[in-house]
Parts: sequence; structure tokens; C-alpha cells
Amino acid sequence: MKTPETLLNRLRRIMPPGVEPKCRTASELMAWHRQEGEKRSAELLKENQRARAERIMGRSGICELHRQCTFANYQVTSDGQRQALSKAKSYAQNFGMGFGGFVFSGGCGTGKNHLAAAIGNYLIAKNHTVLVVTVPDLMLRVRRCYDGGESEASLLDELCKVDLLVIDEVGVQRETRGEWVILNQIIDRRLSSMKPVGVLTNLGTKELADVLGARVMDRLTMDGGIWVNFTWGSYRKNVSHLRLIK
Ligand SMILES: Nc1ncnc2c1ncn2[C@@H]1O[C@H](COP(=O)(O)OP(=O)(O)OP(=O)(O)O)[C@@H](O)[C@H]1O
Ligand SMILES: [Mg+2]
Repeated sequence: MKTPETLLNRLRRIMPPGVEPKCRTASELMAWHRQEGEKRSAELLKENQRARAERIMGRSGICELHRQCTFANYQVTSDGQRQALSKAKSYAQNFGMGFGGFVFSGGCGTGKNHLAAAIGNYLIAKNHTVLVVTVPDLMLRVRRCYDGGESEASLLDELCKVDLLVIDEVGVQRETRGEWVILNQIIDRRLSSMKPVGVLTNLGTKELADVLGARVMDRLTMDGGIWVNFTWGSYRKNVSHLRLIK
């Protein structure tokens, strides 16, 4: 068997003169091997998590429409937008410090998905796993579990493994008891395992509390979490207006 010493000696023999080996002693060589092994297994773990996150909804974390959304291409024309951008940016930069999530609440076309996707794209680039999913899609997926004899528990497990889960269109679901229970189960389980949840909604504080319950509401934005009210007009209107002028 080749010991670290024989490997080092062989390395020294074949190295051109003047070149210093990275490791000088057998124990340094062993430590280097251990570190490389740990790095590789962390990479494999992330690759597995990513593949699992993609399998949950049959696509990668952020839908095509919002893959290009970044902090840089979020336009600021009011103080409110400036604050929203700065809070979203620092949420992304401080991700992992706590398990707090975010609630983006406001009218249609105000950029909730844009900033949530910007957070997601930033985190994906840093090797985190992110899934942005609408409540109706989530419910369809749960129903597919029932129809296909798949266990709903394993879907919940998978949803809890993603580093950041963003639940979009909270409040547009048909307010059935079953849907309410699923949504609460997902959020509650994630928060209990200290995994953050992002919520995008057209609802205000009180209406959202009616949907999610006071306990979940409290825990959503604790420990580094943020609540941002998107109080300005729709960017979509803005875009079509500009096109009309042209
Ligand atoms: N400040 C902004 N700068 C650049 N693009 C923006 C801005 N606000 C919104 N947009 C763009 O406008 C479109 C609509 O925004 P978005 O989907 O984020 O709205 P929303 O708040 O999620 O609306 P809804 O409640 O209808 O889902 C998107 O293409 C988004 O990239
Ligand atoms: Mg939206």
C-alpha cells in the first residue's frame, strides 16, 4: 500500500527542480485529502438537493419569466421602491444568519415577484437551493400525490429541504379547509426546522393573518425576517403606457 510518505517522496522525485510541493509532510497531505473529500461531498449534497428541488415541481427553482430578474434591473422611482430594493438586497446578503423569511405584500404588478426572484437568483448563484411556487400549483401538486398514490408526507419533506421556499399568490387559493391545512403545515414545518419561507401576497396584514393564523404570521418575520409593503402602482401599466407613447 502507498503511504503518504512514499507518495510525497515519489512526488518530489518527479517534480522539476525549484518547484515546491503544496504539502511538505505526510500529515499535511492527509489533511489536504480530507479537505478535498469534504469539499466534494458538500458539492454532491448540494447537487442532490438541487435535483430534488427540481423534481418537486418538474422545473428548476425560478420560473422562466423571472430568471432574468435581478437587483440591478429593478428600477427605482420612489422612496418606497428604494427601501424595498435595499431590504430585499440585505435579506439576500445576510441569508443564513437566521431563519426569518419575508412577506412582500401589495397590489398587482408592483414587483413582488421581481424582487423575490432577484433574491432567489442571488442565492442560487451562491449555491443555495430555492423554489418559488404559487399556491394553486402547490395544491395541484398535492392533489397529484393523492391521485398517484404518492405520499403527501414525502412531498412535504422535500419542500422542507429546499434552502428558501417562496410561496406566491397566497390569498388567491380557494379558501377550503384542506388548502389552509396544507399551507400551514408547510410553513409551520419549515419554520420549526429553522428554514425560511417567503410569502408573496396581495393581502394586507389582517387578511393574511386570517389565512395563515397569528402564530405562523409572528414566526414568519422573526429572526432577521422582513415585511415589505409594495404600495406603489403597477409596473405593468407603466410599461404599456411607455409603449403607447412611443
Ligand atoms: N421596479 C421595477 N423595475 C423593473 N421591472 C419591474 C419593476 N417592478 C415590476 N417590474 C416588472 O414588471 C412585471 C410585473 O412585476 P411582478 O410580476 O414582480 O409583479 P407582482 O407584484 O408579483 O404582481 P402580482 O401581484 O400581479 O403577481 C415583471 O416583469 C417585473 O420584472
Ligand atoms: Mg406576482
